[in-house]
Amino acid sequence: MHVRLKARSEIEKLRRANLIVRDVLDLCQELARPGVTTWDMEEAARSYIQRAGARSAFLNYQPSSDMRPYPAVLCTSRNEKVVHGIPDRREILEEGDILSVDFGVFFDGYCGDAARTYAIGKVSDQAAHLIRTTEEALELAIAKMVPGNRVSDVGDAIQRHAEAAGYSVVRDFVGHGIGQEMHEPPQVPNLGPPGRGLLLSPGLVLAIEPMLCEGTWKVSILDDGWTVVTRDRKLACHFEHSVAVTEGDPLVLSRR
Ligand code: MF3
Ligand code: CO
Repeated sequence: MHVRLKARSEIEKLRRANLIVRDVLDLCQELARPGVTTWDMEEAARSYIQRAGARSAFLNYQPSSDMRPYPAVLCTSRNEKVVHGIPDRREILEEGDILSVDFGVFFDGYCGDAARTYAIGKVSDQAAHLIRTTEEALELAIAKMVPGNRVSDVGDAIQRHAEAAGYSVVRDFVGHGIGQEMHEPPQVPNLGPPGRGLLLSPGLVLAIEPMLCEGTWKVSILDDGWTVVTRDRKLACHFEHSVAVTEGDPLVLSRR
């Protein structure tokens, strides 16, 4: 599959979809406190999607025929859950938890996709450090989104920052191109070595999503068919932005 660069008008549409994503993640951030359930967040996201006239990119998503359609509009991945956790009425957030919320929509034919990890109340120093390091890794990766660099320079920035802090990087899930589809080529592994893969040029739009682990990077899938957890059940953390390469600085579509 080949990579199609986006015209300025398309990047404008990707921006509008991502502004909806950003607003929903802001809404979830306000809800991210002890006593709230992940289903409360799901309901808030569903009602926002409706008001915005958008369509969920996740609900009923089925990457292959041997997978169940994804049953929610959010992925809510708490503590040892890495990604693709399913919101649940019985899942009550507790002080000290960390929670990744991932959200995507289609609006006017284009997809927005982003994720953030929230601290629930006061968290341990270790958990706070993992969150900070993952967010820093994403920022360092975004800075690599300039013409002349290659796709693996983005992943290399993530891997170096993560491993320098003593964390591991998930191998089994990757970032991706994004446009009229949620998942477009190229894949964006969160790994080096640098200088490999597609040459970055203006109009390339990638969803960059570092997934860092306290312990092993090896993961398992729970019986629900979706939820990805660390094999050692230690903490994992996930952030994601949709980012366009321009002639100048990287354009982060999913933030203010
Ligand atoms: N941000 C995730 C991704 O890019 C969201 C997919 S969740 C799914 O793969 F449920 F839709 F699969
Ligand atoms: Co994504």
